[in-house]
Amino acid sequence: MIAIITGASKGIGKCTALKLKNYGYTIVSISRSEPDFGDIKFKVDVSDKIAVKDIVDKILCEFSFVDVIVNNAGFGIYGSFKETSLDEEEYMVRTNFLGTIYFTKFLLPSMIERKKGNIVNIISEAAYVSSPKLLVYSATKAALASFTNGLWAEARKYGVKVSGIYPGPVRTNFTSHPSFNGVKNSFDKFSVEPEKVANAVIKSIKTGKREIYVPSILKIEPYFLKLSNVMQSITYRIVSKWFS
Ligand SMILES: NC(=O)c1ccc[n+]([C@@H]2O[C@H](COP(=O)([O-])OP(=O)(O)OC[C@H]3O[C@@H](n4cnc5c(N)ncnc54)[C@H](OP(=O)(O)O)[C@@H]3O)[C@@H](O)[C@H]2O)c1
Repeated sequence: MIAIITGASKGIGKCTALKLKNYGYTIVSISRSEPDFGDIKFKVDVSDKIAVKDIVDKILCEFSFVDVIVNNAGFGIYGSFKETSLDEEEYMVRTNFLGTIYFTKFLLPSMIERKKGNIVNIISEAAYVSSPKLLVYSATKAALASFTNGLWAEARKYGVKVSGIYPGPVRTNFTSHPSFNGVKNSFDKFSVEPEKVANAVIKSIKTGKREIYVPSILKIEPYFLKLSNVMQSITYRIVSKWFS
């Protein structure tokens, strides 16, 4: 069994690589810096479409198939939108969103051919609750959630399972981006260990569930939002009928 993990040099990706290894997978680790764990390790920037195509071709040439791709590579930029750098934001969109699109685009045909495979996307609860000072990051995750849900529906008939993992705060190097310098991490006390996310990846591979929240209590968030949307549309209907 072959598993590719992007962003495998640290945090959730590294923990997931170690976990999948324990489950008997041959691990292909990918990140910008050299990953220190994996049966095969590649230094690739996932935002580079040509580099991703090359690496997928190489992997398929060596193994002829891939069982699991965990699209995990990603980062956040902290700061008010009026101050953050557009160049960095563009790079974040390419990493967090397009990186997943590239790997999926290049691997899906071989999975469909085998009628087998798991695509696991590490998203974030920020997909549902857009955080001020992390709003472009949140938008990349919302785009990823939308893509994941659509692909889940499309790929089922081909035997390919697609899952989105939605963690809340996780204890990793996520806040090591320079934009977080001096920012107090008020979420630390709520943070979970990356192993909890790795366990969710295992669960997603076994079940093919469309969405898994870590911790699972977070699954109520989308319902709150849907409820608030319903309340909003009722309110606007009343307002437009009686007060316009
Ligand atoms: N930590 C949290 O609270 C949290 C919560 C929800 C979701 N997430 C998501 O979980 C995923 C993993 O984050 P983490 O918390 O484990 O952070 P992390 O410890 O900083 O790890 C991020 C990983 O992504 C890699 N990476 C970043 N940009 C890349 C690029 N352009 N090309 C290739 N690799 C790249 C990094 O490796 P190099 O720097 O060596 O390239 C590193 O291996 C991210 O998608 C993040 O959005 C995190």
